[in-house]
Amino acid sequence: MCSFFRKCHCKLIPIYLFIYLPLAQLTEKLGDIFSLQAGTRSFVIVNGLPLIKEALVTQGEDFMDRPEIPLDADIFSKLGLISSRGPLWKQQRRFTLTTLRNFGLGKRSLEERIQEECRFLTDAFRDEQGNPFNPHFKINNAVSNIICSVTFGNRFEYHDVDFQNLLRLMDETVTLHENIMSQLYNAFPSVIKYFPGSHQTIFKNWRLMKGFVKEKISKHKEDLNPSESRDFIDSYLQEMAKPSGSDFCEDNLVACAFDLLFAGTETTSTTIRWALLYMAMYPEIQARVQAEIDAVIGQTRQPTLADRDNMSYTNAVIHEVQRKGNIIPFNVPRQAVKDTVLAGFRVPKGTILISNLTSVMFDKKEWETPHSFNPGHFLKDGQFRKREAFMPFSIGKRACLGELLARAELFLFFTALLQKFTFQAPPDTILDLKFILGMTLAPRPYKICAVPR
Ligand code: HEM
Ligand SMILES: *[C@@H]1O[C@H](CO)[C@@H](O)[C@H](O)[C@H]1NC(C)=O
Ligand SMILES: *[C@@H]1O[C@H](CO)[C@@H](O)[C@H](O)[C@H]1NC(C)=O
Repeated sequence: MCSFFRKCHCKLIPIYLFIYLPLAQLTEKLGDIFSLQAGTRSFVIVNGLPLIKEALVTQGEDFMDRPEIPLDADIFSKLGLISSRGPLWKQQRRFTLTTLRNFGLGKRSLEERIQEECRFLTDAFRDEQGNPFNPHFKINNAVSNIICSVTFGNRFEYHDVDFQNLLRLMDETVTLHENIMSQLYNAFPSVIKYFPGSHQTIFKNWRLMKGFVKEKISKHKEDLNPSESRDFIDSYLQEMAKPSGSDFCEDNLVACAFDLLFAGTETTSTTIRWALLYMAMYPEIQARVQAEIDAVIGQTRQPTLADRDNMSYTNAVIHEVQRKGNIIPFNVPRQAVKDTVLAGFRVPKGTILISNLTSVMFDKKEWETPHSFNPGHFLKDGQFRKREAFMPFSIGKRACLGELLARAELFLFFTALLQKFTFQAPPDTILDLKFILGMTLAPRPYKICAVPR
């Protein structure tokens, strides 16, 4: 069993599988699909574009559930968006998508909110005067402000101590998640719960973060105007007041708001941190992006989403950052809704499906130079081209709910920053692509210089 894993040189094994390895029995192995049995839990791991498409799209309905992960069970509790199932999931997801879309088209569009935040972020970077700094929490704050403004109706200043604390809790939690004690808890919750360790910190952090969301909801209830909606929470409270909406209850509201905050912050922020790192490491690519910005937008006008169609190179670079950054290497786990058969394998109900996105985004059959940072992967004759094997947001009916928002944020933040700054390694420093694998695969903390152009 273990020798199989050694043989396949997997540098990247999801830690939640790693912990099971000593116990696990590799029951079947046939090319791109194999299964693991560990105590009462069974996993099926799927590699490669054809099989992942089959599992998530063709047989999407069979793998629509989420497994319960002990570490997250208390907080995500089968409510809301990320860990809900069945009709409840469908209803909450549909409502959230419609509400987000309404805010996108409302009088103050999402695009304007992102543009405003771009101005705050570029100002904050300019304050560093080209000196080395770690951009992590400014980027986190900026990105989080977009989802906060949609969900809670306000943004937070970058020097707001309470909000910075919240962001730090979120960051710490994401990092601790794959820690050994946390994963031992996932394997043996009833025993490990009595031990000290990172899982206890995670529980404490989740509670504090949820408290923050609950407080926001109480404030909204106090000054709710039934005929006007300022944000997601208002819309949800109005839905709760309707006689029909029985699943629209406060517990689900807390869960949805929290899921949006959580899913909408770390992912996009991590991607932007990879983007700046790649720019500093590949100055000739950075210079080409800046040349395109200067030609299409110029040095003063703020970038808009409409510019994206005219900026093939920049768009290709952002896609390549997401491909190579590969921030959710094994996707978010799914679970079989019923007994089914996948590529000839019997998959019993309740089996956890791990779709290895890494195997698609680094497949040498799909990419000319899978291990190099090469924007050419997304270009043909100078024009942007889509690639089927690009799937950082996953695919199928349960793919990322925030994809459109995330893509808007990535384009606007990235072009706004490169319009105003050139990113460079600090003097006498060599940047590298070392990563931390927590809930996301993120760059190690780094310092960078944002030199005004
Ligand atoms: C670069 C940024 C992002 C990446 C790479 C990303 C990636 C993903 C992935 C891989 C999944 C799992 C999909 C599946 O199971 O098939 C997911 C789910 C989800 N994402 Fe994102 N995401 C990003 C940004 C966002 C943003 C900005 C939001 C906020 C609206 C968001 C909200 C969600 C939610 C609510 C889910 C759960 C969907 C469900 O279970 O139905 N994501 N995301
Ligand atoms: C972008 O392209 C469209 C059509 O392809 C054109 O009408 C528009 O002027 C272009 N905008 C810029 C800023 O180049
Ligand atoms: C995931 O895919 C990568 C790239 O193909 C591979 O090296 C790794 O072994 C795979 N991991 C698992 C658990 O299948």
